[in-house]
Amino acid sequence: MGEVCMKYEPDNIYEGDARNLAEHIDANTVALSVWSPPYHVGKAYERDMSFFDWKNLLRRTIEAHSIILKPGAFLAINIADILCFKDPDMPRIMAENISRRKRNDITREKVLEVWSRHPGFNRKQIAAILGCSEQTVDRRMKGNNIRGGKYETQTRVKLVGGMIEQYALDCGLYLYDRRAWVKDAAWENSRWHTMSYRAVDEFEYIYIFWKPGHTKVDKDRLTDDEWTTWGSRGVWYIPSVRANDDHEAKFPLELPRRVIRLLTDPGDLVLDCFVGSGTSATAAIRENRRFIGVDVCPSSVDLAKRALTLALMKGKQENLDLFQLTRKSSEAAPNKPIKTDVA
Ligand SMILES: C[S@@+](CC[C@H](N)C(=O)[O-])C[C@H]1O[C@@H](n2cnc3c(N)ncnc32)[C@H](O)[C@@H]1O
Repeated sequence: MGEVCMKYEPDNIYEGDARNLAEHIDANTVALSVWSPPYHVGKAYERDMSFFDWKNLLRRTIEAHSIILKPGAFLAINIADILCFKDPDMPRIMAENISRRKRNDITREKVLEVWSRHPGFNRKQIAAILGCSEQTVDRRMKGNNIRGGKYETQTRVKLVGGMIEQYALDCGLYLYDRRAWVKDAAWENSRWHTMSYRAVDEFEYIYIFWKPGHTKVDKDRLTDDEWTTWGSRGVWYIPSVRANDDHEAKFPLELPRRVIRLLTDPGDLVLDCFVGSGTSATAAIRENRRFIGVDVCPSSVDLAKRALTLALMKGKQENLDLFQLTRKSSEAAPNKPIKTDVA
């Protein structure tokens, strides 16, 4: 007899592989899945993944969603195009730097030198002295080359939207909508910006896929103001996370919060199978949804567990405060008639 797989229970975080979700989550149970996968840009958690492996990860994870999503439910994927896709077959761009504008010449040695003179300073203060961005300081220290093959001459832009649309269609999920998330021009000082006609990296997408079935459209989920400012808008302006100190690729809390408020009701089950630091866990619990988080990396699982526990504790405390407040006010006005619906 085969081994029985552990079932994932709501309000928990699990160490696991997003590709295997269907073994752990019952079919037709998830009201919304919202996640941001590895982007194939050379982060630590994807260093050993080839482009083929990465595509396979996305394909298989999306396939699993065609099983576990409720009919009529949504899958929201936050992802960006690969802005520097190494392609040795591409003709070389023989571009001359005519204007000879000053390039960012901040080296790791310079950062270390300034830091040794100001050991108590934080990244922002060091950046101010060097006249560069915090991101430059961070990258010099961590050796984090955000653009993968940035220094290669033969790189092109690889669009990923069509790729994941096809994976979804192949398993019966339909692209329903997409939003652009405008972050901030985080890489203003980058060599990419100054040495080419390519724009700085300042937006990503949120692709929303739909599993055929009955879908409730309830405009009362949002206030009028929320509808006007973001619910009905294709472009979401949300500053990116400033300090990726505990996890290197967090999305801002506001991103999953919006998707959750727009596409689910309180009590619904929300999933993030690339849960990272647990941002979506915090968003879901704060919005009174149930939540399952999954990540392959044990240190992310620890972070997400902490985020989830904190959000659950806060929620309990708020309920307790509300209960005590209601009790106090009814004690203060004991003779006030109690309103009931019974005639
Ligand atoms: C872009 S990060 C997600 C960050 C998250 N949204 C946050 O705000 O912290 C992608 C995460 O996917 C995880 N990951 C990579 N491969 C995975 C896999 N096969 N299954 C589950 N998680 C995986 C990584 O460990 C990483 O934490």
